Amino acid sequence: MASAPMPRPHSPPGASQPHLHQQSREVQRFDQLRDMPLGLSEEVRSEMAAELNRILCDTRILHDLYKKTHWLVRGATFYQLHLLMDKHAEEQEALVDVLAERVQTLGGVAVGDARHVAELTRIERPPDGVEEVPAMLSRLLDAHEQIIREARRVAIRADELGDLVTNDILVSNVLRTNELQAWFVAEHLVDRPLVVVKDDSASGSRGSRMH
Ligand SMILES: [Fe+2]
Repeated sequence: MASAPMPRPHSPPGASQPHLHQQSREVQRFDQLRDMPLGLSEEVRSEMAAELNRILCDTRILHDLYKKTHWLVRGATFYQLHLLMDKHAEEQEALVDVLAERVQTLGGVAVGDARHVAELTRIERPPDGVEEVPAMLSRLLDAHEQIIREARRVAIRADELGDLVTNDILVSNVLRTNELQAWFVAEHLVDRPLVVVKDDSASGSRGSRMH
């Protein structure tokens, strides 16, 4: 008796089999610009796209620094900082999307791969291990200041070049978010005495820090 035929390894005719493992040459190189009908010259769009890509990379790194701190923070204020770090990370992630879509709108290629981000960012790499909490927060503030300086410089340049939407994104989204977040983080680094010495004999010493 003949055995039943083995199922064929190929999909039957008519099956909507996806064509897997496709490959392509690049259809737009990273340094190439597509023409877009924005009424802005190629030079302006190219300069702005390059500047925005660098701010995009720094913003992705700041997002990751916030997630790292969200996970690694410790101590008595753990829960408060754990939540604040995640909120700021979400807001930075939203900025990444706004920046990337502006690069695309200008005709450029938004940086999309984390390894490419690592090549272009200007923000210092943190240790792989765990720092003291104030050092982690200081690191976040340094990253904020780096982004704020660059965003302000490029916003002014965008205004000079007539790229008003790039200016608006940098002022209304990037600068506003970063300056507000920097305030919230900086308040956690105020040297505030935890214990007050009660000394009735010398009123001038009230409020001094106990050592
Ligand atoms: Fe989480």
